[in-house]
Parts: sequence; C-alpha cells; structure tokens
Amino acid sequence: MTNANGRGRLIYGCMGLGGPWDGTSYGAAEIDQAAAVIDAAQGIGIGLFDHADIYRNGKSEAVFGEVLARSQGLREKITLQTKCGIRLGERGLQTHYDLSREAILERVNESLKRLQTDYVDVLLLHRPDPLMDPREVADAVGQLMAEGKVRQLGVSNMSAAQIAFLQDALEAPIVANQLEMSLLRSDWLEGTVLVNHPADAGYSFPHGTLEYCMSKGVELQAYGSLAQGRYTGARSGDLSPAESATATMLEDLAGVHGTTPESVLLAWLMKHPARISPVVGTTNPARISACADAAAVAGKMTRAQWYGLWTTARGSNLP
Ligand SMILES: NC(=O)c1ccc[n+]([C@@H]2O[C@H](COP(=O)([O-])OP(=O)(O)OC[C@H]3O[C@@H](n4cnc5c(N)ncnc54)[C@H](OP(=O)(O)O)[C@@H]3O)[C@@H](O)[C@H]2O)c1
Repeated sequence: MTNANGRGRLIYGCMGLGGPWDGTSYGAAEIDQAAAVIDAAQGIGIGLFDHADIYRNGKSEAVFGEVLARSQGLREKITLQTKCGIRLGERGLQTHYDLSREAILERVNESLKRLQTDYVDVLLLHRPDPLMDPREVADAVGQLMAEGKVRQLGVSNMSAAQIAFLQDALEAPIVANQLEMSLLRSDWLEGTVLVNHPADAGYSFPHGTLEYCMSKGVELQAYGSLAQGRYTGARSGDLSPAESATATMLEDLAGVHGTTPESVLLAWLMKHPARISPVVGTTNPARISACADAAAVAGKMTRAQWYGLWTTARGSNLP
C-alpha cells in the first residue's frame, strides 16, 4: 500500500488558515501566515496539504492560492487535496450535505479558482450524503478526471460499507479515507479489540472500517491527530486525571526518545500497521516543527510504550 501523496506520511491540514470563519475578508497578514505555515510544513518534509471548500468559508483555499500565485514552482513541489460535499448555512438551511453531480462539479471548479491551480491531486468526498446516488458521483468525478481537474478520489468520515458501496459505482479507486483518530479519539481502535465485549456497545465506530481500508489499500488519514493540543499545553488547567497522566507520559517518552511530546503523540498513531497519515492542523510554526520526529519515533516505539499510552489515555485497563 502506498500513501495517496506518495511522499512523507505527515499531512498539513489547512483549516486554520484564512482568518475567522465569519464573512470578513482576508488580508496580507493571513496570506503571510499561510506562507509561513507552508514553509514550516515543508521544513519537516510535509508534501501534502489538506483543504476543504468550506474551511473558513473558502478563505483557507484563497490565502493558499495567493501564496501559490506568488511562489514560482511551489505548485509542482506539493500535493494538494481538497474536499466537497458539505454546505454550511446555504439555501435557507443549516449545515447539510450535497454530493449531487451538480454540487460536486460546481464546488471543485470554485476550489480550483480559489487555489489558483488547474488541478487538485486528490478530491475527498467530505461526508456521506444520505441522498447521494453513487452513479451521479461517478459521473461527476469521471468528468473532473477526464478534464484533468482531479487526479485521485478519496472519502472522509465513511465506514467500510459506505466506501464499498461507492466503489462499486466508480471506475477510479478510492485512495484515502480521512477520519478523526488520536489518543483522545480512539474509538477506531477500541472497536477492533472490544468485539464480543459488553463495553463495545459504547463505541459507534463501524466495525471493519480499519481492516477494509488496510486490505484495499485505502490510506487512512487522521484528523485531530494532535488532539487539538489537549495533551501538549492547550488545556493544561482543565484535564481529567487520565488526560493529565497521558500528558505526563508523553513528556516522559519525549525525554526517552530525545524529542517532543507532539512527535510522540503522532508516533503513537503511525506505529499502527494501518500506516496512518496524521493530519497536523496547528498554525503555529514552532508546533509544526515539533512534529518533525514523528515517523522516526514510530519506528523506535516499543509495544510496551504503545500500549502504555493507550491504556493511560483510555483511563482503564483493557479487558
Ligand atoms: N475530514 C474532516 O471532517 C475534518 C474535520 C476536522 C479537521 N480536518 C482536517 O484536519 C486538520 C487538523 O484538524 P484539527 O485542527 O482538528 O486537529 P489538530 O491538529 O489536532 O489540532 C490543531 C488545533 O488545535 C489548536 N492547538 C492549540 N494548542 C495546541 C497545541 N499545544 N498543539 C497543537 N494544537 C494546538 C491549534 O491552534 P493553533 O493553530 O493556534 O496552534 C489548532 O486549532 C484540519 O486542519 C483539517 O485539514 C478534517
């Protein structure tokens, strides 16, 4: 199995770029921030940048596009991924989903304009749309691929059954599934060991999704991989006993491996044989740099350290 980006395993998540979520416009400060973040991400070997049409109401893509326009040769050096399928407060409705043919075509064309590029390397269908017709998706994606606007297709927040259902209608292979996965959000893992256990009822993650992706070569991309900084300083005064113990263990292991707690946190995901690619979403260049050793630490992390982190974070022993 190869990663969709075919480069380093870390992905940079651009949801924090572009200023506030409201309708205000962006300026030079937001473009400079995007440039600094892209620089910091490339500095630790990141080649894949993850977007969505909705991030900051289009401003995340727009500031990124401004940086691409002013940085000759940058587009060819990076891999761009964006998503479509969510409508935020449009058509008199609150958040709803739209994977109709018309919506896919319209939203990808708008993303390309904002990103100031002719193509995205990967398009992810952001969330399952209950009204989706897989033949319409296949038609829209087929057209975008034939036009050279989309090179590969993936999904996000989908179960094994949903991916298989879509794949049946598609010519192109589904190459990635982006899910929330971290030490804090570990139901993807709980579900693999609590089969036939009463505690299993407490987990909603669909059984078999991890195994399906692994056996079909669908790259697992983990969003929320830094647990929004919960273990690494973002909420230090507000942690449960299990979270506090996990933060301490991450620091201790960082000392053992001569690295940062952020790298250990991501290494825990990357040691899993699913070859998970963490999506890193901090806009702080120093925090991005703190993730540099993740892959190296994953290679050195012992089974005892991996299980120790998991059981500490879950706050109870495994059955
Ligand atoms: N497919 C989906 O449905 C979906 C959903 C959500 C996100 N995503 C993607 O995944 C990416 C990452 O998601 P995420 O931002 O939720 O995850 P994350 O990388 O775990 O968290 C980053 C967020 O936590 C904040 N933070 C505060 N203190 C921090 C610290 N000490 N260390 C690290 N972060 C700290 C960051 O703020 P600062 O910027 O100030 O550091 C940033 O807002 C997004 O950018 C997006 O590309 C996808």
